Amino acid sequence: MFKVLTLNNISDKGLSRLPADQYAVADDTQDPDAIILRSYKMHDMDIPASVKAIGRAGAGVNNIPVDKMSEQGIPVFNAPGANANAVKELVIVGMLLAARNICDAWDYTRNLNEPEDDKLNKEVEAGKKKFAGYELPGRTLAVIGLGAIGVRVANAAEALGMNVIGYDPVITVENAWRLSAGVKKAATVEEALNAADFVTFHVPLIEPTRNMLNAERLADMKDGVVVMNLARGGIVDDAAVLDGLASGKVSRYVSDFPSNQLQGKEGVIALPHLGASTGEAEENCAIMVAEQVKDYLENGNIVNSVNFPQVQLPRAGEQRLAVSNLNRPDMVGQISHVLGDAGLNIFHMVNESRGDVAYTLVDIDSQADDSVIEKLSAIDGVLNVRAL
Ligand SMILES: NC(=O)c1ccc[n+]([C@@H]2O[C@H](COP(=O)([O-])OP(=O)(O)OC[C@H]3O[C@@H](n4cnc5c(N)ncnc54)[C@H](O)[C@@H]3O)[C@@H](O)[C@H]2O)c1
Repeated sequence: MFKVLTLNNISDKGLSRLPADQYAVADDTQDPDAIILRSYKMHDMDIPASVKAIGRAGAGVNNIPVDKMSEQGIPVFNAPGANANAVKELVIVGMLLAARNICDAWDYTRNLNEPEDDKLNKEVEAGKKKFAGYELPGRTLAVIGLGAIGVRVANAAEALGMNVIGYDPVITVENAWRLSAGVKKAATVEEALNAADFVTFHVPLIEPTRNMLNAERLADMKDGVVVMNLARGGIVDDAAVLDGLASGKVSRYVSDFPSNQLQGKEGVIALPHLGASTGEAEENCAIMVAEQVKDYLENGNIVNSVNFPQVQLPRAGEQRLAVSNLNRPDMVGQISHVLGDAGLNIFHMVNESRGDVAYTLVDIDSQADDSVIEKLSAIDGVLNVRAL
């Protein structure tokens, strides 16, 4: 029986992927094999030594001490792309809210207080001039970060008739395949920003992306640009954008990350972190991450880990050994040597590395006894060994 600790409410559809006859899932499990969470901040948590995997039902992992987990040979899984459609739809909403002045217009109508319809209609007609907007076709959208979300945003905006320019110096081959051929590729972030009537960010918050949109870059952009940050607070320098709103450089700022600085400011459309808040996204994330954690606990396969290489091997032989180790020379040699000494024949073996960690799956033709596991664990550089 595997034990799974949940640190947030996780969709039942996701947890149903962990069958009750094999998995005890609860929010107070002691000595869990795995932790599944959404936004719970794990940085100050005492993580039980029994934990073998962490699954984040979402995309960003900055609430998880990933480096510490890597040092212990524990993979952290996420659910890339599972909430991408939800965020994409909110970006389209954001552009339309900004272009058609919807928030102010709605506010105006809501606050009309005329008991007679004739008079109300006069006020409607009198007021509407203030909220006249513009349409999206022919306008240019810059998409910074062409990952799961950025690619969908770029393709959808193109389908709405916009010109789209994208910037992502490290786009994956898979995302490059998904990206519509009509999306222009910028060589620098400035090239994309300076072409933009709208700019939207879909990058992780890491040192190189902190304050990616700052006063200096904003100064060279078109007047009246609409800035959208539905990625993470900190990627856009809010103070610079507020100055831009005051000077007219920026016409609207759509942010999913409200702060006291942004509160009540003219031109700011702040949303309460709604990007991935749809039932569908939560379910998709929970299903993906539950299946990945299950496959890791049962088969040692690693799919969509943020700190470990992708490793998948169909089961064969009598037993599978899963070894996490430091990425150093001769680790595979030493592992094979221990197995050879014990007279265990290797059926299949795969070894992949990522940064400082490496991971080896070995299918053997008979059961390894405890002494083999102990010898493997004792190899200098081995972080943990599991017999599956
Ligand atoms: N508002 C929300 O509720 C919400 C929901 C989901 C995701 N997000 C945020 O959106 C971000 C993107 O999500 P995703 O699923 O598309 O992630 P992803 O990993 O698929 O894509 C991120 C992309 O950013 C690119 N990138 C990294 N550094 C870059 C740089 N310096 N310049 C340009 N591109 C760079 C990467 O190459 C990658 O293609 C997440 O990191 C998360 O913070 C927010």
